[in-house]
Amino acid sequence: MDDIKRKLINAACDVRNNAYAPYSNFKVGAAIVAEDGNIYTGCNVENASYGLTVCAERNAMASLIASGNRIPVSIAIVAKDGVLCPPCGACRQVLMEFNPNLEIILESGNENFEVFKLSDILPLSFSPKDIA
Ligand code: THU
Repeated sequence: MDDIKRKLINAACDVRNNAYAPYSNFKVGAAIVAEDGNIYTGCNVENASYGLTVCAERNAMASLIASGNRIPVSIAIVAKDGVLCPPCGACRQVLMEFNPNLEIILESGNENFEVFKLSDILPLSFSPKDIA
C-alpha cells in the first residue's frame, strides 16, 4: 500500500532536479499514478514574464493527459525537503477536473508523508458539469 506512495515521492524528488526555477529558486516536483499504473511526472517551469510560470502539478497532469490516460489516482508533491507543499489553488482546480477523489501525498520529512483527498482541500468547487 505504501509502496506506490514511496515510489511516487521518489519520482517527484527525481523530477524536482529538472525544475526550471531561476526566479524563485523554489524547485517543485510532482508525480502522478494513473488508473493503468503508469507514472507521469512534472516540475515547475518559470518564465521571465512571471505569470507564465507553470506549476509542477499541472505539468505532470498535462503529461498524463497527453499519454491518453484521463484519471489520476494519486499525486505526490515535493518541494523543500521535510516541508509540506500543498498544491496551489489553480492546480487544485485543474486536478479537480479529472478526479475529485484524487489522493494527494505530501512529503513531511523523516521518510514520512501526509495524505489528503482533493475534494477535502477544495470544498464547494466550481464545475460547469453541475449546472449543465
Ligand atoms: N509552484 C508549484 O510548482 N506548485 C505549487 O503548487 C505552488 C508553486 C511553483 C511555482 C513557482 O515556480 C514556484 O513554485 C514558487 O511559487
